[in-house]
Amino acid sequence: MSFKSIFIACVIGGSLMVAALMFNRARPAGLVAGSSAVFTEASGRCAQCHRQETAAVVHQFERSEHSGANVTCYDCHQALDGQEEFEHYNFVMARDVTSLNCAACHTTEYDQFARSRHALPAWGAVNGAAGVSEDLVALSERYHPGSVARPANALATLEGASATATGCLGCHNIGVPNADGSVGSCTECHSRHSTSIELAREPRTCGQCHMGPDHSQLEIYSESKHGVLFNAQRSELNLAADPKRLTTADMPIPTCATCHMSGLDGLKVTHDTTERLSYWLFAEVSERRPGHLAAQTEMQETCLKCHASTSVERFYSAAEAVVSATNEHVRETQDLMAGLRAEGLLTPEPFDEAIEFVYFDYWHYFGRTAKHGAFMGGADFVQWHGNYELLQKRTELEEMAAALRAARD
Ligand code: HEC
Ligand code: HEC
Ligand code: HEC
Ligand code: HEC
Ligand code: HEC
Ligand code: HEC
Ligand code: HEC
Ligand code: HEC
Repeated sequence: MSFKSIFIACVIGGSLMVAALMFNRARPAGLVAGSSAVFTEASGRCAQCHRQETAAVVHQFERSEHSGANVTCYDCHQALDGQEEFEHYNFVMARDVTSLNCAACHTTEYDQFARSRHALPAWGAVNGAAGVSEDLVALSERYHPGSVARPANALATLEGASATATGCLGCHNIGVPNADGSVGSCTECHSRHSTSIELAREPRTCGQCHMGPDHSQLEIYSESKHGVLFNAQRSELNLAADPKRLTTADMPIPTCATCHMSGLDGLKVTHDTTERLSYWLFAEVSERRPGHLAAQTEMQETCLKCHASTSVERFYSAAEAVVSATNEHVRETQDLMAGLRAEGLLTPEPFDEAIEFVYFDYWHYFGRTAKHGAFMGGADFVQWHGNYELLQKRTELEEMAAALRAARD
């Protein structure tokens, strides 16, 4: 499928989904729909009790943009069609407040988010298609073939349910298929009651999940010139600026959101964090994504608000050189593993021999780190946590392979 037809499928699919959501939205009987007097009262009554019960929730809500815009507690907490209900002091409440409740007012953001890899692909990475309705699998397959219609992850299966529930899904739940038919969680970045843009633009917010040896984006950013300047000059930045009017005067230094989401100086803001990416950097061997040129142009338009085109082109060719060198190393090591398997020295099962863990670390930690470091300005990560480790682990793999062959002979 061409990039263009994927794009069209996304637009149509996304709009259908949101149309369905909007159609389903209905206020519960017993409360007058659309009456702001009722809603103010609803908020007042919730807040009255909850100032005693869960005071912090009320304080956070009162400081949020929502409170100023007359959005009430009940606007989010009411049960919509398709949601499990419970009665709470005469209010018909949703058992779980999900992205469906947000989508009712924020269709554009929901649409973009729902077609990104933060949605179902994040869930599929751990569980495969388990727990996902056929409709949602089909929808997601149109955007990201193979990302949900795949088996559960082998490591997750081996480590077991408790490890998966609080470990993997602690991060991958960002794309959870909700029981009401909607996808994902908006509050991972915005929080429940502050619902803040400022918080979402904080690198550490992304770094809740984007950290550690397999995806060291927060660490790489922190050591990059961008991250150093951000940390030094944070108090001079306007992190709360309206996304529709965000300028380089508000943010002369980029954060994760600037490069991956923001509409700087008139560019288009997006909740589809996949749009500006041109390589599958997380893969064993990183191929170009469909539509890679368009994606590079989108990302580079952001760089060009602050840098000259010559610097950006230089930076990209250096990063691409690291990607192709790393691909070369990984392919050679894949061959080494395939050789052992062909000789019957490894079982077909994953993660039951020591050498398989060393190989996994090889590409999953060090290969990825080198590539991510090169694209986000982390020299230490390209070198000492990347290429040096690749060299060292390669030697270890060769010695382990030799030992396996010696034991057979
Ligand atoms: C008459 C007092 C009162 C009113 C009015 C009230 N609440 Fe509560 N609410 C409580 C109490 C008490 C609890 C239980 C707190 C606990 O378990 O520690 C609670 C619990 C909750 C919970 C957690 C429920 C759960 O089972 O997980 C939510 C969410 C909630 N309230 C939201 C609201 C909202 C939204 C409104 C307004 C539409 C509201 N409340 C109105 C007193 C009230
Ligand atoms: C922007 C939407 C939104 C608004 C407005 C909102 N909430 Fe919530 N609230 C949520 C979400 C999302 C959750 C998490 C629900 C879940 O996990 O099912 C939540 C959870 C809660 C909980 C349970 C907290 C816990 O940690 O156990 C309480 C209590 C609550 N809300 C009360 C309120 C009250 C009172 C107000 C108004 C002062 C309010 N909420 C306004 C979205 C909202
Ligand atoms: C009843 C409608 C309604 C619901 C439900 C709702 N919002 Fe909003 N939201 C608004 C309005 C109105 C504003 C303020 C005007 C604007 O910026 O669009 C706003 C603003 C925001 C902002 C910008 C805040 C800022 O700092 O400028 C974020 C982020 C946001 N909402 C997220 C959410 C999330 C997440 C949920 C669900 C948990 C949610 N909203 C539910 C109506 C709603
Ligand atoms: C600390 C948060 C976190 C935890 C815990 C975590 N992941 Fe991830 N995972 C991520 C992030 C962030 C990415 C995106 C990496 C990138 O694009 O560079 C990712 C990417 C992946 C990918 C590659 C993307 C894809 O769709 O194929 C797979 C597979 C994956 N994770 C599976 C798992 C499994 C299985 C577990 C538990 C055994 C797990 N993850 C635990 C955050 C986490
Ligand atoms: C990966 C983190 C992340 C997730 C998940 C996320 N957002 Fe956002 N959101 C952001 C960032 C960052 C911004 C500010 C973009 C910028 O810098 O201009 C933002 C901005 C917004 C705004 C303000 C848009 C405007 O133009 O004024 C709304 C509303 C919003 N988000 C709603 C949502 C809703 C609804 C969801 C769930 C469907 C969601 N967000 C999920 C990070 C996130
Ligand atoms: C709650 C955890 C979580 C948070 C918070 C989070 N992400 Fe992610 N992110 C993930 C996971 C999991 C994936 C991998 C999805 C997949 O491909 O399976 C991912 C993937 C991505 C990707 C790669 C998408 C692709 O197409 O490969 C980008 C870019 C990204 N996130 C940026 C951000 C930014 C920017 C923020 C903060 C504004 C952020 N993320 C916040 C969990 C998170
Ligand atoms: C100066 C801009 C910039 C900043 C700041 C930045 N990134 Fe990136 N990021 C990039 C570029 C460029 C790429 C590679 C794009 C490509 O594939 O063409 C990338 C790649 C990624 C990927 C890899 C997706 C994959 O294919 O595996 C993730 C995830 C990601 N960034 C998350 C983050 C997070 C989280 C932060 C903040 C801690 C961040 N980025 C900060 C520019 C930036
Ligand atoms: C919002 C502005 C902004 C954006 C967007 C931005 N940068 Fe930067 N960048 C800076 C600033 C400020 C510095 C520090 C310059 C200095 O040393 O004074 C910097 C430094 C750098 C450096 C190190 C200094 C150098 O020139 O050798 C590189 C490389 C770089 N940026 C690449 C990029 C790339 C590639 C992108 C897009 C993916 C990007 N930047 C996006 C503002 C930005």
